[in-house]
Amino acid sequence: MDALEALTTRKSTAQLIDPAPEGQDLEKIFSAAIRVPDHGCLRPWQFVIFKDEARAELGQIFCGALELNDPNASEAAFEKELKKPYRAPLVIVVIAKVQDHPKVPIVEQVLSAGAAAQNIMISAHALGFAGIWRTGAPCYDDFVRERLGATGEDQIVGFLYLGTAKSFPPMPDVSIADYVMEWKAAKI
Ligand SMILES: Cc1cc2nc3c(=O)[nH]c(=O)nc-3n(C[C@H](O)[C@H](O)[C@H](O)COP(=O)(O)O)c2cc1C
Repeated sequence: MDALEALTTRKSTAQLIDPAPEGQDLEKIFSAAIRVPDHGCLRPWQFVIFKDEARAELGQIFCGALELNDPNASEAAFEKELKKPYRAPLVIVVIAKVQDHPKVPIVEQVLSAGAAAQNIMISAHALGFAGIWRTGAPCYDDFVRERLGATGEDQIVGFLYLGTAKSFPPMPDVSIADYVMEWKAAKI
């Protein structure tokens, strides 16, 4: 699959089963992730891989956040949090590890990490895998942030759920013309 085909045919799905990318495929995916534009070459990225039984610990982290935020949460709510990381065989947490810099505002470092997340999604698709980029409350939760190593202004930019598509929702019908305009030079 060439680059343009990968870019224009990627589709998210939450219906993910084995296999997930591993070994050389995963190396290719991370090679693509670290080739994103990066103002100041600050390398503001951290990728945390959860697979197999480690996913249970991610679920426990989500439960820890729920316990702190809602001490009266039901058993079912905790069960739901525990199961979340099992929605895919592989979960990659993408964290923007940012620093104060005289020329590179933090937002640019977060954008670079977002681009890395997108390169992961695209390259996984190009290799025949599928996934969905999720955020939700855990991205912004202090307990989750601390447990995953996001400190200060660091930002969890996404939980990338990856595997093989069981099914895909239909492709949305979006018109390029709705989003693109050409700036016409004023007549002098
Ligand atoms: C930063 C970011 C956060 C997202 N968070 C969620 C999320 O928490 N839950 C969700 O269902 N979709 C989330 N999405 C949207 C999906 O990743 C996906 O783009 C959407 O379902 C549309 O499908 P498509 O990518 O095939 O067009 C997020 C997308 C981005 C870019």
